[in-house]
Amino acid sequence: MSQMTASKNEIKDINLASVGEQRINWAKSQMPVLNSIQERFLKEKPLKGIKISACCHVTTETAVLALTLQAGGADCLLIASNPLSTQDDVAACLVKNHNVSVFAIKGESTDTYRKHVDLALSHEPQIIIDDGSDVVATLLQNKKELVKNIIGTTEETTTGLIRLRAMEKDGVLTFPAMAVNDSQTKHMFDNRYGTGQSTLDGVLRATNILLAGKVLVVCGYGWCGKGIAKRGQGQGARIVVTEIDPVKALEAIMDGFQVLPMAEACKIGDLFVTVTGNRFVIDKHHFELMKDGAILCNSGHFDLEINLEALGKAAPNKKTIRPFLEEYTLKGKKIFVLAEGRLVNLGAAEGHPALVMDMSFANQALAVEHLVKNKGKLKPGVQNLPIEIDNEIAALKLKTLGIQIDKLTPEQLNYINSWKEGT
Ligand code: ADE
Repeated sequence: MSQMTASKNEIKDINLASVGEQRINWAKSQMPVLNSIQERFLKEKPLKGIKISACCHVTTETAVLALTLQAGGADCLLIASNPLSTQDDVAACLVKNHNVSVFAIKGESTDTYRKHVDLALSHEPQIIIDDGSDVVATLLQNKKELVKNIIGTTEETTTGLIRLRAMEKDGVLTFPAMAVNDSQTKHMFDNRYGTGQSTLDGVLRATNILLAGKVLVVCGYGWCGKGIAKRGQGQGARIVVTEIDPVKALEAIMDGFQVLPMAEACKIGDLFVTVTGNRFVIDKHHFELMKDGAILCNSGHFDLEINLEALGKAAPNKKTIRPFLEEYTLKGKKIFVLAEGRLVNLGAAEGHPALVMDMSFANQALAVEHLVKNKGKLKPGVQNLPIEIDNEIAALKLKTLGIQIDKLTPEQLNYINSWKEGT
C-alpha cells in the first residue's frame, strides 16, 4: 500500500523512518568527503533557495547527498531513477525526519515511475540531477516551457551521458550538463569497484550460488564489465567476455580473460551479466543455445539488455523461486532471470557501498555548486567538471583513508615542464 502525504510525497510506509535513519547514519559514517562538503555547505549556503529535482536511486547514500544539498540551502525533491531500486525505509526517513519531498516506492509500475518524472518537473527545478537522463529527456520532449528555469543538469551515468550527447547533436540541449560520470573519481571507482562488488552481491543475495568454478559471461568490458570480471575471477569463476569494441576486447584478453562472440559464449555460460548499455545483447536465439540452469542478470542502466519479451513468449510459464529469482522453462530447459532484468545490484542488493558513493556524490554536490556559482556563464552542452574538483576529491579521499603520497621536488617539477634535457 502506498501512502500519500498531501501531494508532497508518495512513499511506501512512513513508519519505516526510524529504520531508515539508522541505516542512513551508517552510510554517512563511511562518506567523509561528502560530509566535509555538507559541513561547508551548512556554513556557506551556496545553494540558498535553489530548486533541485533529483532523480537517483533512493538509497542510504543518496539520502546523504540529498541532506548535503539541503544543508546548502536547496529546496530538493527526490524521485527514483529505477522502479526497483528504492529503499522504502530511506524514502520514509527523508520525508518524516528531514522534510525532503520523495516520490519513490520499491516495485512501482512504469506508469507510476513516469508520473514521478512528471512530478519532478512540476517542482519547476533550476537544477536537475539525473541518473539515466529520463528527467532531462522528458523536459525536452514534453515540458519545453520549463527549460527557461534551468541553470543546468548533472548526470551520474554512462548511459545518461550517451543520451545527453545525442540531445546535443540534435541541437536541443540548450543548458550546461555536467558529466559527473566522466570525472575520474567517479567512473574509475564507482563503475569499476562499486559495480564489480555490488553486482556479485545482488547475484549472491538472489541465488546463494557458489561462484567458484562457474563460467561467468560478462557482456561488455567497459569500466563496469572490468570490475565484474575482476571480482568474479577473485571468487574463482572462469571469466568469458563478449565485446563489440576491438580495443576493449584486446584489453580483456590481456587482462587474462577469454573473449568470445555471444553466439559461442551463450553455449557455455553458467551465469551471464550484461553491462553494455545496449539492447537485446542476450536475445531469443541465444536462449535456445543456453545450458539448462543458466542464470541471467543485468547491471546496465536500463532493463533492455536481455530480451525478456522474447523469453516470456518462448517460455510463458514463469515461476518465482525466491525474491528476485524467476524460473522460465524453455523446451524442458530451465533459465533463471534475476531482478526482472533490471539493475541486479540495486534490485536484489543495495547498490554500491557508501565508501565509493562518497566520491560519486561529492562530484554531484560540487557539480551542482559549480553550476550555481557560474549561472549564465557556462556554455550549453555536455562538459566535464573542472579537473581541480576531481583532484580535490581524490586528495580528500586519500586523506580520509589515512594515506600519504609524495610531492614533486622543485627539480622534478622543473624537469617535467622542460623539453631540453634528454638522454
Ligand atoms: N548507483 C549505484 N549504487 C548506488 C547507491 N548505493 N546509491 C545511489 N546510486 C547508486
